[in-house]
Formats: sequence, structure tokens, C-alpha cells
Amino acid sequence: MPQQTVLAKIKELESERTDWFVKQDSLHLIMQYIRQGDFHRVLEIGTHIGYSALNFSLVADHVTTIEKDRIFIVEAVQNCLLSDNIELIQANAFDVLKRFNKEKRKFHCIFIDAHKPDYGEFLLLSIPLLEDNGAIFIDNTISHKTKLGTFFKDLENSGLSYKELNVGDGLIIAFKTRKFFQQNKIN
Ligand SMILES: C[S@@+](CC[C@H](N)C(=O)[O-])C[C@H]1O[C@@H](n2cnc3c(N)ncnc32)[C@H](O)[C@@H]1O
Repeated sequence: MPQQTVLAKIKELESERTDWFVKQDSLHLIMQYIRQGDFHRVLEIGTHIGYSALNFSLVADHVTTIEKDRIFIVEAVQNCLLSDNIELIQANAFDVLKRFNKEKRKFHCIFIDAHKPDYGEFLLLSIPLLEDNGAIFIDNTISHKTKLGTFFKDLENSGLSYKELNVGDGLIIAFKTRKFFQQNKIN
């Protein structure tokens, strides 16, 4: 029954879709990875009003999502409450990611979809939070290519293996592969 409520809310939000929402083809691709990769714990940087978080909650065991804007938080709280496996953190992602690093929290899937010029820093703070067999997804890498600050340089230097997919607004998927562990002298 709760899933029915979530599905109904997703449908309602879909009918009012704005440019802030992740595009459907990118969303479905991430959801497919979550399902097939058995990615239990998902971390999202940039909730907005909870459209993507509600979708992820259908396929993941637990979704942690971070939003800092008080105006969006009002609606995000209402929407995320519909699902019992979403934790909405109302704070600046920089503070939360730093705290998660101290607490050595780990996630199977991390979705970066917040302030574009900060993507490089979000990525560097996310890498230690990623389970070895997990994946980081980064949205808007084509639509906002020139607005992403140091992101592409940080990604290249990180040792992650990655691919930019021509779906939605441009989606990068990045993994820790042997190259990453050798470069960072882990194992
Ligand atoms: C493109 S929207 C996210 C859309 C959402 N992922 C979806 O597809 O439904 C980006 C959101 O990130 C939030 N944001 C930007 N920088 C942030 C930060 N440093 N910490 C937390 N939230 C941030 C913005 O307020 C905005 O609501």
C-alpha cells in the first residue's frame, strides 16, 4: 500500500515536471543499476522536492538525500515522508559529506545532482564514501559542461574509471576499478 502512495506521488510530480528534475532516461538507467547491482544504500546530493529520491526508494533498501534550500525542503519533507526508507537531511551537503567521512559511512550508489560549480568538491568528498563495488552517477555533465568548475580535472585525477553517457542532460557513471586501487595504493 505505501508503494501505491509513492507511485501516485511520482505520477503527480511527473505531470508537473520542471527542468530541476533528473531526466527520465537518466533516472531509469540509474534505477536499473541499483536493481542489478544490488545497491542497497543510495546517497543523493540535491533532493530538490524529492522526485528522484522517491523513485530510488522503490528499488533501494535505503535512500539518504541532502537538501539545503529551505523553500524546497518544505515540499521535500512532505514527499519523502511517503516512503519509509528515505532519510532527508536538511543541511549543506559539504557539512554532511564531511561528517559522513568522519563516521566512515559507506554507500553503494551516490548521485551528484546539486550546485554545478561544486561538483569537483562533491566528487572528492564522495569517493571515500563509495563501497568498493559501487557507482557514482553525476548528472548534467553535458548540459552544464562549462559550469562544472574543477570537476573534470578532479574526475580524471581521481583514478576512478568512468564513462559519459549521452542520455538526459549527460550522465557520467564512475567506478572504483583496479586502476583506482593501484593509483591510490589500496590492497
Ligand atoms: C537539480 S536539483 C535536484 C533534483 C533532484 N535530484 C531530482 O531529480 O528530483 C538540485 C538541488 O540541489 C540543491 N543543492 C545545491 N547545492 C546544495 C548543497 N551544497 N547542499 C545541499 N543541497 C544543495 C538545490 O537547492 C536543488 O534543490
